[in-house]
Amino acid sequence: MSLSPQFLDELRGRTLISSVIGKQVKLTRAGREWKACCPFHKEKTPSFTVNDEKGFYHCFGCGAHGDAIRFLTDAQGLPFMDAVKELADKAGLEVPAADPRAREKADKAAGLYDVMTAASRWLEEQLAGLEGAAARDYLKRRGITDVTRARFNFGFAPDSRTKLKTALKEFGVEKLVECGLLIQPEESGKEPYDRFRGRLMIPIRDQRGRVIAFGGRILGDGEPKYLNSPETPLFDKGRTLYNLDRASPASRDAKRVVVVEGYMDVIALDQTGIGEGVAPLGTALTEGQLERLWRLAATPLLCFDGDAAGQKAAVRAALRALPHVGPGRSLGFVTLPTGQDPDDLLRAKGRSALEDLLGAPESLVDRLWRHESAAEPLDTPEQKAGLKRRLLDHVATIADPDVRDQYRSALMDRFYALTRPPRREWTPNRPVGRSVFQGRYAPPRPASQQAKAVSATGLAPHESRAILAGLMRFPAILSSHAETIAALPFPSGQPLRLRDVLIDCALSHGELDPDRLNTILADKGVAAVVEQLRLTQGLGFSFTRRDADPERACRELVLVIETLAARPALDAALAAATARLEEDGDEAAFMEQQRLRTARDEVNGRLAALMENAAGDA
Ligand code: UTP
Ligand code: MN
Repeated sequence: MSLSPQFLDELRGRTLISSVIGKQVKLTRAGREWKACCPFHKEKTPSFTVNDEKGFYHCFGCGAHGDAIRFLTDAQGLPFMDAVKELADKAGLEVPAADPRAREKADKAAGLYDVMTAASRWLEEQLAGLEGAAARDYLKRRGITDVTRARFNFGFAPDSRTKLKTALKEFGVEKLVECGLLIQPEESGKEPYDRFRGRLMIPIRDQRGRVIAFGGRILGDGEPKYLNSPETPLFDKGRTLYNLDRASPASRDAKRVVVVEGYMDVIALDQTGIGEGVAPLGTALTEGQLERLWRLAATPLLCFDGDAAGQKAAVRAALRALPHVGPGRSLGFVTLPTGQDPDDLLRAKGRSALEDLLGAPESLVDRLWRHESAAEPLDTPEQKAGLKRRLLDHVATIADPDVRDQYRSALMDRFYALTRPPRREWTPNRPVGRSVFQGRYAPPRPASQQAKAVSATGLAPHESRAILAGLMRFPAILSSHAETIAALPFPSGQPLRLRDVLIDCALSHGELDPDRLNTILADKGVAAVVEQLRLTQGLGFSFTRRDADPERACRELVLVIETLAARPALDAALAAATARLEEDGDEAAFMEQQRLRTARDEVNGRLAALMENAAGDA
């Protein structure tokens, strides 16, 4: 049944939302709004607000949000039309009579729901009965418990062309065909027959929990693996998300929603305690589905297989989402090891392995960049220009102007960093031996062109200044750590010169103290930088502060030097692993990339901690 937007606006306008919500929730005045403890999630301090002027409620804790109608459907579980009727009664409005054709359609659909419910019940009975033994076995082998089997109403369609038709004949053949349960052969005079034969049956529910379709899985191998109901008056594939009715409330508690590829994955997630999983039905995510997901969480997590098909689906979803992203509306990407879906991963490694991945999703901008920067080689000006064009074309599809600007600058920064790598290689004027870190993270085969470009992660200006200032204060470590310091990717110019002079001094004069060093430096033509560094204070590290404990400062200087020296090799290896993953994407490459990512995050975390330390007791 459809109501005009005008009527709904009129209804909202005449409804005082606080009086509707106030019946169920104790509201207290807070300026122009009302406040309360949120009825949608457990909380002790109120973060739920109601605004009469706007006719909206919003919870800052769980993100529940909507108008008076939504409150009645979500908080009280009323069907939409009942909520409208209740509000219309109170507002003294007459609900307009539905147009006769819409009514007819609605009545017809109402009858079909009954058929689907009856079918679901009958299929469940078959699974429990004699003929269901093989299917029950199959479920057991897949690790589906009896509780899960009942919770998702698994069923079994016997291997017969007539059993379902006979069992449900009270509904009439025509309705059974309309529901997609029977197939009507094209040729006239031929009898309709059961669509699902010898399959494990999974009922597909709409967002209100009514059965609208079935997925049927073959037991064991065979084609097609899954047979889904055809489109019917009840079932619109592109608008349906499997398990949405249960994932909605679950996502409020979990504050996330996880999109996986198959319904067996959703069920495996649920069995392990993750109730906020949904799946499209074998098709790419549609805009309608994305809109639904955004009502549940600001950043729905797409958790797809690492194989080519899964990654293609992820990128497709990214591009489809892009026009609609906004502040608080994005997507997160979780890439599973190649050839493993969430169900496989859960069975092999348990919930914590999946949670680890879900806890560190890749952002939409990162996913987009990863896809485009690896799509083509970048050896020629044409190829580079091609990448730039593709990136800007994607940016142009973003409707929100602020987000569009942010994407443009984020992607162009990366584009220029990749296509014009700064020259930061240091060639020592005398051999100082291999860096202790060199080789530790070395990629097992030569880094590709891109990997090299990305790997040029030199020291940031503040890092190089901090280290030089530290070395001026603790020159004793110059000779003991010469090889590591020599391997640090200093930016070219004065800092690089000073670094080289310092190493030179250490190598030719042995252990130095600060005064002696200053005397030597006086006639090396670096006096200006030295003077500048002497004035440098407050770079955030203990060794750049005069009031810090010298022993600790010196120790932390060594730590920072070693950490920074490890970073470029690590970044190079990570870039190489990423490139390899893009190329052949096998599990080994994926695991390697994950390991390197963790290692890199640890390095950055360690540096951040050292800076905070110093700031903390300043
Ligand atoms: P998958 O083949 O990845 O499903 O298809 P799965 O859940 O891992 O299957 P199992 O573990 O082997 O049982 C993902 C989704 O694509 C649709 C279904 O909706 C399925 O859930 N699909 C797949 C089909 O519609 N038909 C098919 O033949 C295969
Ligand atoms: Mn699977």
